[in-house]
Amino acid sequence: MGLRLSKGQQSHRLAIFVAIFIVMTLLILYGSNNVNEVPYAPFHMAIHHTVKTTDLKRWFGKDGYVPVYGNKSMTLRCHNCALVTSSSHVLGTRAGEEIDRTECVIRMNDAPTLGYEADIGNRTSLRVVAHSSVFRVVRRPNEFLHRPDSNPFIIFWGPPNKIGKDAKGTLYRLIQRVSMMYSNVSCFSIAQNKMRKFDGLFHRETGRDRQKSHSWLSTGWFTMVIAIEICDNIKVYGMVPPSHCGKKPGSKKMPYHYYKPRGPDECVTYIQNESGRRGNHHRFITEKQVFARWAKLYNITFSHPTW
Ligand SMILES: *[C@@H]1O[C@H](CO)[C@@H](O)[C@H](O)[C@H]1NC(C)=O
Ligand SMILES: *[C@@H]1O[C@H](CO)[C@@H](O)[C@H](O)[C@H]1NC(C)=O
Ligand SMILES: *[C@@H]1O[C@H](CO)[C@@H](O)[C@H](O)[C@H]1NC(C)=O
Ligand SMILES: *[C@@H]1O[C@H](CO)[C@@H](O)[C@H](O)[C@H]1NC(C)=O
Ligand SMILES: *[C@@H]1O[C@H](CO)[C@@H](O)[C@H](O)[C@H]1NC(C)=O
Repeated sequence: MGLRLSKGQQSHRLAIFVAIFIVMTLLILYGSNNVNEVPYAPFHMAIHHTVKTTDLKRWFGKDGYVPVYGNKSMTLRCHNCALVTSSSHVLGTRAGEEIDRTECVIRMNDAPTLGYEADIGNRTSLRVVAHSSVFRVVRRPNEFLHRPDSNPFIIFWGPPNKIGKDAKGTLYRLIQRVSMMYSNVSCFSIAQNKMRKFDGLFHRETGRDRQKSHSWLSTGWFTMVIAIEICDNIKVYGMVPPSHCGKKPGSKKMPYHYYKPRGPDECVTYIQNESGRRGNHHRFITEKQVFARWAKLYNITFSHPTW
């Protein structure tokens, strides 16, 4: 039996080769395009998951915050709070005086006020600090001393082996030294069982297991939950809505942090984290979708931009 193909079969084969070539070319082009434009592939909350609403006001337990030194307790309660984000959207807002007039002012990590007072004010009632930011916070004692709030609070969050009571590392010793030295500052770390509750909350609100989905919670997540616990009314400064970065690229670049004008772009940081699969990533956009839902349950308003 001959193996020669008829003319028809040959052109059929050619057509298949051409088709495969075109598809491959398109795939390669599409792939390289993605690298340049950063595809918006959202983390996606689990579809069809029914949100079992957690009453965050009841969720709060006094034992969730462990004093780093002495026997202080986490007593901060406020009627009105200003939650000042670290986003460059706060720049140029001239909201400083309004923020300073608010009963309690909440900030995150090492975000400085010195030099930015006109836009973000100069008071700090509570600072929520990630384990990874401790060194940077400690390096700026002027930010939590000699400021108008004479008895500020700091809440440190992080893995229990780093900041927990039984941690023996440098980080915990540093936190201890700081809270001994500055006795006016009430320092707390989030207890291990409370850390697990933060994970559980993420799971209930997004339908995704934090660890299995390779997600890291952000300081923004901790800060928002704590703010809901301690404040009746919250006004957020500088947080973009969840849809903000889904728009066409080409919108103005905005630094991720107001105090790092040459730092990474906010939307690039959000989108890359949101679509990150390998390794652990922050789900900044998913978190904001949850915040939008919470804003309907608790009195949370957003300004600069408003949403
Ligand atoms: C613990 O608190 C009590 C009163 O609440 C106080 O008398 C005592 O001095 C405190 N101890 C320490 C080590 O701060
Ligand atoms: C900073 O704090 C002082 C009070 O210590 C206040 O008089 C001043 O208006 C504040 N500055 C700004 C820009 O908010
Ligand atoms: C510490 O607190 C006391 C009483 O609340 C206050 O009088 C004092 O000025 C504060 N010290 C500092 C450095 O803020
Ligand atoms: C909600 O909070 C804002 C300030 O953040 C306040 O002006 C407003 O009165 C509050 N609304 C209610 C219903 O408490
Ligand atoms: C994710 O966000 C962090 C900031 O918390 C940033 O340092 C990191 O570069 C981001 N990752 C990507 C892949 O953009």
